[in-house]
Amino acid sequence: MAAPSAERVADLKAKYTKAGQGQVFTFYDSLDASEQATLFEQLEKFKPEYINEITNRALNPPKVEDESAKTGLEPLPESARASILDSAKDDIDRWYDLGLDLISQNKVAVVLMAGGQGTRLGSSAPKGCFDIGLPSHKSLFQIQAERIRKIEELASKKSGGAAAVVPWYVMTSGPTRGPTEAFFKENNYFGLKESNVVIFEQGVLPCISNDGKILLESKSKVAVAPDGNGGIYQALVVQGVLDDLRKRGIEHIHAYCVDNCLVKVADPVFIGFSASKNVDIATKVVRKRNATESVGLILLKNGRPDVVEYSEIDEATASAEDPQQPGVLKFRAANIVNHYYSFSFLESIPQWADKLPHHIARKKIPYVDLATGESVKPTKPNGIKLEQFVFDVFPMLELSKFASLEVKREDEFSPLKNARGTGEDDPDTSKRDIMAQGRRWVEAAGAVVEAETADTGVEVSPLFSYGGEGLEKLKGQTIRAPTVLDS
Ligand code: UTP
Repeated sequence: MAAPSAERVADLKAKYTKAGQGQVFTFYDSLDASEQATLFEQLEKFKPEYINEITNRALNPPKVEDESAKTGLEPLPESARASILDSAKDDIDRWYDLGLDLISQNKVAVVLMAGGQGTRLGSSAPKGCFDIGLPSHKSLFQIQAERIRKIEELASKKSGGAAAVVPWYVMTSGPTRGPTEAFFKENNYFGLKESNVVIFEQGVLPCISNDGKILLESKSKVAVAPDGNGGIYQALVVQGVLDDLRKRGIEHIHAYCVDNCLVKVADPVFIGFSASKNVDIATKVVRKRNATESVGLILLKNGRPDVVEYSEIDEATASAEDPQQPGVLKFRAANIVNHYYSFSFLESIPQWADKLPHHIARKKIPYVDLATGESVKPTKPNGIKLEQFVFDVFPMLELSKFASLEVKREDEFSPLKNARGTGEDDPDTSKRDIMAQGRRWVEAAGAVVEAETADTGVEVSPLFSYGGEGLEKLKGQTIRAPTVLDS
């Protein structure tokens, strides 16, 4: 690659210098032509004044020390929520039927957020490639792909018409795109049609030192990090996903995180619930385990739907009981980042995406020392990454355009966050929860499970059953666990 002209370099340097970020050119003159071109190209993509602005806003957000000290927190009103735990079977069946009809009409798509770096898990491959240790050794991507295949099959069967298609949009980031694409190719898209799997990439932002300066990772490269799961909104527009959704006539979108092994991808109940409520966004929640569980809560803040972090509410609020249900927490709707969007809402992204705030994550960021040119691997946090959160969009909605659906944690939420051995949200808990669910399903269908211990489970392939349906044939059979039931 040829180095850019001296004039273009001078222009860009002036912009960065004016913004107080001229240090990114420290080593420029000592680089070879190809390195100069790479650094120039990277720097040209950022607007240094904008980076300063979002950094300042993230470092100095409006002060909210204790949300609950203010009067504005309430659970979502009943009109905006429902619960699988206590809904009438008729309602759930109605939502399921409607959702499946919409799937059979090819009006439903799925967006997966898989751009995170999974630092806590500590695997070098993207999280979706991870084998949680099931007897089948399926990766998270494979489990999710097979749920899509199964729901397409169930929808096609119900309509009796042409094969239904649920396109799958997989959001990756700089670090995860290459390995994700390679993994999908190697595995032949897990039986999905390649043209219905769209892998796209979210943006990155420079990493910033504790004193507000853009960090260099090497002499010819700015240190960057994905812009958070809220980067999904910009990415849907700039990566052409919105256009593709429009072209395919999609009206309902399910978006979720890669690390939830129990996720019901394109769940017809959720799609049907959201569509029948005619909302712009709906979100699944699980019941908070107890007053001290560290989860974000979905609630109403000053009349708007919002998420409030556990650290932001006081003890009395966290442990308050629901006056209608003694013994049940008043604020219990735990956020699991599992959303429904109407397509018409996503079309409005360009009007607000740049207004979503950025949050800071203090991290150990490898950098090059500007004085010595040496690479440094810090042992304590030396800077910040800037991230947008996918749920920061909630307060933009009128309450009438938002709803939440409480689902059973044991059926729908088991995130993979930590390395094996942590005992919490790790590969062993993911495996345990899938196997336990399978065992519940086959026992409910009338099979007898023989196992050494009560918690030895059964892996039911998504191709065999999406959500426990279609297992009637197991009635009266004896199943020796652990085992896999495949199609
Ligand atoms: P987490 O915040 O748990 O991050 O992401 P992570 O990358 O999985 O793990 P750590 O924090 O580095 O250990 C929640 C979901 O949001 C996605 C992740 O892929 C995961 O599905 N995500 C996160 C993105 O898609 N992009 C991002 O920039 C960050």
